[in-house]
Amino acid sequence: MTTASPSSVEPRGGAAGQRVLVLDFGSQYAQLIARRVREQNVYCEIVRHSITAERVRELAPIGIILSGGPSSVYAKGAPLCDPKLFELGIPVLGICYGMQLMCQALGGKVDSAPAREYGRAECDIVEADGLFAGVPKQTQVWMSHGDQVAGISNDFTPLAKTSTCPYAAVKHKRLPFFGLQFHPEVTHTPEGSTVLRNFLHGACGAEGTWKLGDFAAETIERIRQEVGNDRVICGLSGGVDSSVVAAMLAKAIGPQLSCILVDNGLLRQAEEEAVVAEFTQHFKTDLHVVKGEERFLSALAGITDPQEKRRRIGHTFIDCFVDEAKKIKGAKFLAQGTLYPDVIESGAAPDGPADTIKLHHNVGGLPAELGFELIEPLRDLFKDEVRRLGLQLGLPEEIVWRHPFPGPGLAVRCLGEVTREKLDTLRAADAIVVGEIKAAGLYRGTSQAFAVLLPVQSVGVMGDSRTYDNALAVRCVNTDDFMTADWSHLPYEVLARISTRVINEVKGVNRVVYDISSKPPATIEWE
Ligand code: XMP
Repeated sequence: MTTASPSSVEPRGGAAGQRVLVLDFGSQYAQLIARRVREQNVYCEIVRHSITAERVRELAPIGIILSGGPSSVYAKGAPLCDPKLFELGIPVLGICYGMQLMCQALGGKVDSAPAREYGRAECDIVEADGLFAGVPKQTQVWMSHGDQVAGISNDFTPLAKTSTCPYAAVKHKRLPFFGLQFHPEVTHTPEGSTVLRNFLHGACGAEGTWKLGDFAAETIERIRQEVGNDRVICGLSGGVDSSVVAAMLAKAIGPQLSCILVDNGLLRQAEEEAVVAEFTQHFKTDLHVVKGEERFLSALAGITDPQEKRRRIGHTFIDCFVDEAKKIKGAKFLAQGTLYPDVIESGAAPDGPADTIKLHHNVGGLPAELGFELIEPLRDLFKDEVRRLGLQLGLPEEIVWRHPFPGPGLAVRCLGEVTREKLDTLRAADAIVVGEIKAAGLYRGTSQAFAVLLPVQSVGVMGDSRTYDNALAVRCVNTDDFMTADWSHLPYEVLARISTRVINEVKGVNRVVYDISSKPPATIEWE
């Protein structure tokens, strides 16, 4: 059993039960589209592009959005949709590839554009009401395409154009079908949310009644019914997802909840203390802290290969967790902080995209053989929604806004062999890096900031003596989805303060470097 399955036919869209489906044609922005729709208080789910019209009818969405995608609609094997979708009477918005697909399916022609268009473009609105109500006659849009609609059937009419794209937006003359060559979901299209709102509230008749507060109340009630009088175990990691799950369960079933926090000795400074304080003093849960540092360090002794580190940490975590779980009598359920992107990207949603986009870092994941039934109350939510939910449930900002932290913790930021001494050095340096970024008011504006201890010594001078100490890398990135990321352009003064403080205050570090690599081709973590 999983709580709140996104595949159920039962409406999940708040009081009115309205939902919108995004058909995913492989766009990097499919999740962003869904988030933008939810920001308008309309519940939205991502489904595979090949979903049948029959299944869509069952799900009864108020609108369908066809996402962008990397293919050419006229190429052999291009992902298509069930043509009967256009016979259901449900409003459709095609974005980029989705627009091309719809126009082609309904009698238009798609061709390669005179020049591949990528980036900002000036768009002239030809028809200012309806989809473009409230949008200035000239507006900036974000383009990213090689193909475009070259000719439309008589059923369609143009709504907007750019200097190179005669059909930047179109609508069907009789049916509620719209197409946008540009991407309304990205922030580089400043009026994008107005256009989406017009589609949702105008064409689809959305009431905008989906609210996180309702979601929380519904889910808490559902958990109560499912759990009955049984006991639930919840692993706490210090991160926001597991904290929100635990807070939700604490509200739902209070004394029937037991939390397990495995102190693996690889956490950030003051992380464990904050979570322990919250869940003992505020939520007053039955919290079991497993002191596992020795077990983890001995499992990691002599190991330098990153994958092997992860593997050993994963196994040790399971061993510690299982040992503790055995002490908790009568537990039937295990609560996990699986999020909607995890469900979608691992291909686990029954109507969701079938392809596995990425394999999940599952360190900290527990094997199914443990025999618990799963409760995953966040399966329908995006990270930003989880954070808002955390605040609603009364978690402190410090926990809710904490940057993500990998399951294997500081071990993958301590390159080479992991020792207690190196971890202490790294923890102290990391606290300075994060502390200075917070002091400069930049923490919320960056997605992940941390220190990496390099297995590289270099020569330095301190006072009159020569040093031969470690180098420390500072990594700070901005990202929407953690699949791509840009290094943060931190002000020099902040970098200077970090460097001075680390070198002066952290014994064993005499050189600080700033990582200016983007992902891809680099990853966010160093190991
Ligand atoms: P990369 O390094 O792959 O990281 O660009 C993307 C995001 O995933 C986090 N990450 C992990 N999270 N277990 C986790 O729970 C892991 O083993 C793991 N490795 C990377 C990383 O911190 C970043 O947010």
